[in-house]
Amino acid sequence: MYREKRILLGVSGGIAAYKAVELLRLLVKAGADVHVVMTRNACEFVAPLTFQTLSGNPVHCELFNLIQEREIGHISLADRADLCIVAPATANVIGKVANGIADDLLTTTLMATKAPVLFVPAMNVNMWDNPLYRQNQERLVHHGYHFMTPAVGELACGWEGQGKLPEPAAIFDFAQDLVGSRDLAGRTVLVTAGPTREELDPVRYLSNHSSGKMGYAIARAARNRGARVILVSGPVALAPPEKVELVRVDTAREMHAAVLARCDEADVVVKAAAVADFRPAERAAGKMKKGDRQQTTLELVRNPDILADLGRRRGKALLVGFAAETDDLLENARKKLCDKGLDLIVANDVTEPGAGFGQETNIVRILDCNGTVETFPCLPKDEVAYRLLDLVRQRLSPGE
Ligand code: PMT
Repeated sequence: MYREKRILLGVSGGIAAYKAVELLRLLVKAGADVHVVMTRNACEFVAPLTFQTLSGNPVHCELFNLIQEREIGHISLADRADLCIVAPATANVIGKVANGIADDLLTTTLMATKAPVLFVPAMNVNMWDNPLYRQNQERLVHHGYHFMTPAVGELACGWEGQGKLPEPAAIFDFAQDLVGSRDLAGRTVLVTAGPTREELDPVRYLSNHSSGKMGYAIARAARNRGARVILVSGPVALAPPEKVELVRVDTAREMHAAVLARCDEADVVVKAAAVADFRPAERAAGKMKKGDRQQTTLELVRNPDILADLGRRRGKALLVGFAAETDDLLENARKKLCDKGLDLIVANDVTEPGAGFGQETNIVRILDCNGTVETFPCLPKDEVAYRLLDLVRQRLSPGE
């Protein structure tokens, strides 16, 4: 994957800069041509000569270096990269790029490049939790930048928590998906995300805890891999991803109509949405009054099963469902896979810590119709999305 790829490795100033040396070694071993750009602070932690010796290329530290500028030019560093990895990425570098500030060679290069950029943050746990940092990260994700989630553990500053640079091998694996993998170019992927809302009256509704994070991660991953993406989303608090066709819906019936209207355009349909199986038999025109009643009964009627309808139509699209379970995970998921006529199903036990509704991570098993099961550890939802799309890609007819 990395062979003959030109990787720009940005190193910013943190104690974890020493781990970037090992990352560089792995990339070079895999056949990549690595060019290192260091911030001034990074040079305080690791000598540029170390990176220069291991990469076999000059290390760039200054925005205006007369010799390097004549021979390479800082913009051509950005132009020639197939992928930029910033590891460690400090809150400072992330904050600057998120706000359009380019005041050194690294931030200038990151803002000038058209290549995918992966930030691998490493920082103090309180900085990681700081809402200002989070806003910066969200902003960059929204604009198509990639992030790896820091590991949890003992931090150099003495605190314990999230903020450690992941191991170089994990960064190497993660970045592999980004380098030149436009393997869904020419395909259309329809993704559903979030909950549906079923109104009882003008002020109340039935719904569930879906945040939309899983479905939005799949939409972003498909877009990053070159697909045209149609995202049919229930009501969520997430920013709409860029370069994705967003269709907003509220109810299961609206989602059903939107998906059926667009599914013929799709090569792949991924149904990550948590659709309400039932809705109130009647929606009261005015706010329902409790009166003197101590208890009441709500009559519910079935909503259409969107995925089952798609399975029955059996168009050209590869169908991927999700199964949110609380018990008998595989058995229930297998049943849904068969009953709904799916090609793949992503099973998650939503009672497991780190899995399911509202979490940043998920723990999934992916089953296909031949009975094959792939088991994944607890991963950020973006990574779950990439692994799912790998399996989807393998199942799409070649050359189409
Ligand atoms: O949104 P997040 O907070 O990130 O949480 C992610 C998630 C838990 C919602 C996601 O990982 C997940 O499991 N999504 C499916 C939730 C669900 O409704 O599962 P289910 O087992 O009830 O439904 C099975 C499949 O049929 C799903 O693909 C669902 O979209 C689909 N379905 C269900 C009912 C219905 N009326 N129509 C459908 O198409």
